[in-house]
Amino acid sequence: MTKVAIIGAGPCGLSALRSFEQAEKKGEKIPEIVCFDKQEDWGGLWNYSWRTGSDQYGDPVPNSMYRYLWSNGPKECLEFADYSFDEHFGKPIPSFPPREVLYDYILGRVKKGNLKDKIKFRTSVTNVIYNGNNFEVTYRDKKNDKSSTDIFDYVVVANGHFSVPFIPEYPGMKAFPGRILHSHDFRDAEEFKDKNVVVLGSSYSAEDVALQCHKYGAKSVTIAYRHNPMGFKWPKGMKEVFHLDRLEGNKAIFKDGHVQETDAVILCTGYLHHFPFLSEDLKLKTGNRLYPPKLYKGVVWQNNHKLIYLGMQDQFHTFNMFDCQAWFARDVIMGKIKVPDSSKIEKDINKWVSMEEKLENADQMIDFQTEYTKELHTLSDYPKIDFELIRKTFKEWEHHKVENIMTYRNKSFSSPVTGSVGPKHHTDWETAMDDSLKTFLDQPKR
Ligand SMILES: Cc1cc2nc3c(=O)[nH]c(=O)nc-3n(C[C@H](O)[C@H](O)[C@H](O)COP(=O)(O)OP(=O)(O)OC[C@H]3O[C@@H](n4cnc5c(N)ncnc54)[C@H](O)[C@@H]3O)c2cc1C
Ligand SMILES: NC(=O)c1ccc[n+]([C@@H]2O[C@H](COP(=O)([O-])OP(=O)(O)OC[C@H]3O[C@@H](n4cnc5c(N)ncnc54)[C@H](OP(=O)(O)O)[C@@H]3O)[C@@H](O)[C@H]2O)c1
Repeated sequence: MTKVAIIGAGPCGLSALRSFEQAEKKGEKIPEIVCFDKQEDWGGLWNYSWRTGSDQYGDPVPNSMYRYLWSNGPKECLEFADYSFDEHFGKPIPSFPPREVLYDYILGRVKKGNLKDKIKFRTSVTNVIYNGNNFEVTYRDKKNDKSSTDIFDYVVVANGHFSVPFIPEYPGMKAFPGRILHSHDFRDAEEFKDKNVVVLGSSYSAEDVALQCHKYGAKSVTIAYRHNPMGFKWPKGMKEVFHLDRLEGNKAIFKDGHVQETDAVILCTGYLHHFPFLSEDLKLKTGNRLYPPKLYKGVVWQNNHKLIYLGMQDQFHTFNMFDCQAWFARDVIMGKIKVPDSSKIEKDINKWVSMEEKLENADQMIDFQTEYTKELHTLSDYPKIDFELIRKTFKEWEHHKVENIMTYRNKSFSSPVTGSVGPKHHTDWETAMDDSLKTFLDQPKR
């Protein structure tokens, strides 16, 4: 029987498990599957952890989630085609849920079966080599400190790429009297109440961590971009300046001449694609981009078609794109999709990579990833979902952010699966301090 190892039980690993379960329900004979996750439970980085640094077994904590995180895109854009928000919550819910609500949703469909039995928790995959015939996968049971090696025909790499921080150094950091941390270790914005905070970066973490600090009472928030500013209309108390030059004592000195006294520097400088467990010939080497090279259909390793990567792209689309990838990968593994010859693969990869290199703005990037996801969708039996509505929703969302970065999360969109419209939330995001599932779902009667 074919044996498949899935590394990671985050959203991508769970999409893979779900895809096989759905095939089995249709009467198909599925491979033997073992999924490994080094955390104590499933959900990947949505499974919030208070820990930073190392866990109790000495392993680096993979989790980058923080308290009070709300979805930064409309939930309608990430909805599963085979399990709608309406089905999970029994009613339409607002379009921008906090973490705990999304976590509950992600787990809803996988909890219904017996998929958990296929996952070895607290188990780190430490080494994967291809011996010319199949994969030798070595994993460590962290609790019992016991290593084992098993043979697999296919390996699905679903370990995420927002877990290992990229940490640059600037002059003056060693002598800085305050706190310096990466967004990977950011947990609670209340820590920065009444403080002057400098945030480095100009992408989603910089935007959201800066807004969180402002929302929970920071005295000032100064965001320093390196190439392009985000350019939003920031509320009073927040500003965007050009690139950090150095720290001198507790002063941050920027390349545009700005000087800001600061208590903390938060490095929202992104993450590394990091696969220390893969041998060199199997290792994807890429930055955070929409079409990482050497992946046929963004999924199958060009040099070894038994190695699958899920979710390695920079992400507008998330959960339903992961599903489309997983369903495609499942059909490759089960022999229902034949991978073409190497020249066709090369041509297909080059086509997507060269299209990506020409993208100039967010609307074009949304179009690119929508086209990619739509193409994958046509290749498997992943259920019907309206990607044209998702494309339109993403573009409206982008424009709402430009209009007002403080209010975009108060907007409503309609579901690409059921058509229902997200009701307006009972509290505007800016004043909603309690992000618990209970408070979010308990809409007071108007
Ligand atoms: C701060 C933050 C906020 C985000 N917010 C949103 C959002 O609002 N909406 C959205 O759609 N997306 C968001 N994302 C994007 C996020 O990438 C996806 O939502 C999703 O979590 C990706 O799933 P994944 O399975 O690829 O990775 P992960 O969620 O990172 O899961 C990977 C899993 O692999 C396990 N693992 C890693 N290495 C090993 C190993 N060697 N052995 C065994 N197990 C291993 C980890 O323990 C983890 O459980 C956010 C990302 C970050 C960093
Ligand atoms: N739900 C939410 O609200 C939420 C919150 C946070 C994060 N996220 C998600 O998390 C993921 C990761 O986002 P991310 O912002 O952490 O990573 P990212 O999108 O890869 O962005 C990395 C940023 O780091 C900057 N950078 C890199 N090196 C730098 C240096 N030496 N000095 C200054 N800046 C530097 C880059 O700037 P250049 O452009 O100049 O290279 C870029 O702005 C995304 O998928 C995002 O959606 C979601």
